[in-house]
Amino acid sequence: MRASISGFLFISLSLYSHIVGDPSDRDAEGTSSESKSQLPTTLLEELQGNSAYNAIHQMFQFLNTLGSKLQDMNERLISLEDVVFPNRTENVTDSGNTKPELDISALLKTLLEEPKAKLYSEENYTGISEDYAFLTTEFEGGCLDLKDLRRKVKSVDTFGTCIRLFYGQLCIGWSLAVYPGSVNSDSVLNKKLSQVESIGPCLSDEFEHATFTDADSSIGAQVEKSSSDVPDMIEICSLEKFYKATRPLEIPKLLTHLVGPHNRIELLVALIHPTLLNITHPQTEGQMESRDFYKSLEKHPGDVLGHGIPALLGGPTNESFNIFPQKPQGREDWLNITSGIRSMIMSEQTSIKVRGTDTTGPEILAQVALNFMYHNESSSRPYVFYYWVHLRSKRLFYGRILN
Ligand SMILES: *[C@@H]1O[C@H](CO)[C@@H](O)[C@H](O)[C@H]1NC(C)=O
Ligand SMILES: *[C@@H]1O[C@H](CO)[C@@H](O)[C@H](O)[C@H]1NC(C)=O
Ligand SMILES: *[C@@H]1O[C@H](CO)[C@@H](O)[C@H](O)[C@H]1NC(C)=O
Ligand SMILES: *[C@@H]1O[C@H](CO)[C@@H](O)[C@H](O)[C@H]1NC(C)=O
Ligand SMILES: *[C@@H]1O[C@H](CO)[C@@H](O)[C@H](O)[C@H]1NC(C)=O
Ligand SMILES: *[C@@H]1O[C@H](CO)[C@@H](O)[C@H](O)[C@H]1NC(C)=O
Ligand SMILES: *[C@@H]1O[C@H](CO)[C@@H](O)[C@H](O)[C@H]1NC(C)=O
Repeated sequence: MRASISGFLFISLSLYSHIVGDPSDRDAEGTSSESKSQLPTTLLEELQGNSAYNAIHQMFQFLNTLGSKLQDMNERLISLEDVVFPNRTENVTDSGNTKPELDISALLKTLLEEPKAKLYSEENYTGISEDYAFLTTEFEGGCLDLKDLRRKVKSVDTFGTCIRLFYGQLCIGWSLAVYPGSVNSDSVLNKKLSQVESIGPCLSDEFEHATFTDADSSIGAQVEKSSSDVPDMIEICSLEKFYKATRPLEIPKLLTHLVGPHNRIELLVALIHPTLLNITHPQTEGQMESRDFYKSLEKHPGDVLGHGIPALLGGPTNESFNIFPQKPQGREDWLNITSGIRSMIMSEQTSIKVRGTDTTGPEILAQVALNFMYHNESSSRPYVFYYWVHLRSKRLFYGRILN
């Protein structure tokens, strides 16, 4: 497409000089109709009968009268390209000159699957830089702790992909999504994200309801999230709530939590130890459902009792801080993810034994943190929760479960 434009410009500029002549001797040249005869005949034939010809001719004269800068003229010529030569550009279809339908799934793939970025120490993509590429991070899952640019990032080029910047290391704390169409990639810090220590991929459902436009194909597609998409600023593993949690980590419970208004669950952090996985919990689900606490919580029709840290990861089934009203699909999704975590932990355990590593003492194999979000202070049913999982095998991943 670029080639086509510059090629066209070249023709246009020679046309320009042919039609209006050198401005300095235009008066001497007389009318432009005389100059027209100097055009190469084929081009002239092509132009004649083209309804845009007269318009463009008038524009040349107009521009010349005004003595407009060449740059202004170029811009107007580019916009006229399709009008003047509507059939000539048809062959360029596959390089994007005519607007093909946006391939949303390909765009999402670009945005989410292998994000990369260049982080800069100054605004406007200047200063020293550090590179990020999803497939080369220390943590499987794409989280990278910054080295040279730790706490120094001010702007980020994401090359048309989507990345998340994090306040703390290990993709913890306030996080900002940066993607084509997000605000301020040239100046990423804000009151909550006052520094950047790590970077990771965006959430898999980051753009589920977004609209995509290619208003200016030279800068690629632009993305506009809808209100039901993941907000750009979120805390996946919440430091803010972690600092507020009054209950210290309780070993052997290996769990810390924070409750909010109505004793609703706000934060859960579990350090998963292998012995926890072997505990057989008493069947208390029915009991919990009939308890006043669960009854007091807001519910949607069809809601079931959900566990933040499910029993299969050693979570307590009889504590009210571990339960909340959950939609069945969310419960299913979360059980699916946590059973995946469990089998990863189990295979980890096996590999430790095979290698003969010291296994004495409580060995933390995984950390799981949940951040529950509510619409307002009086809500007692979360509308979403974010999960963050760090396995000792250096796998780190995160996401959200809608409710
Ligand atoms: C240009 O394209 C239009 C519509 O596609 C067609 O009607 C017209 O005949 C074409 N003109 C030439 C010169 O090919
Ligand atoms: C343009 O398209 C026509 C018909 O599809 C084809 O015959 C011609 O070779 C194409 N020209 C170029 C330069 O691709
Ligand atoms: C970044 O660019 C904007 C607009 O071009 C400018 O207003 C701002 O001062 C620049 N910032 C720095 C630190 O150069
Ligand atoms: C957990 O139970 C499995 C068998 O069910 C056993 O192989 C494993 O050693 C146990 N792990 C611990 C830490 O007790
Ligand atoms: C839950 O069960 C454990 C033992 O399985 C017990 O230690 C704990 O006190 C119980 N908690 C509640 C709130 O009943
Ligand atoms: C989770 O669900 C997917 C299909 O949605 C399935 O392929 C996968 O095996 C499930 N994982 C577990 C651990 O059950
Ligand atoms: C608070 O959120 C709940 C949903 O959890 C909603 O039903 C209620 O109207 C909200 N109240 C206010 C004051 O916005």
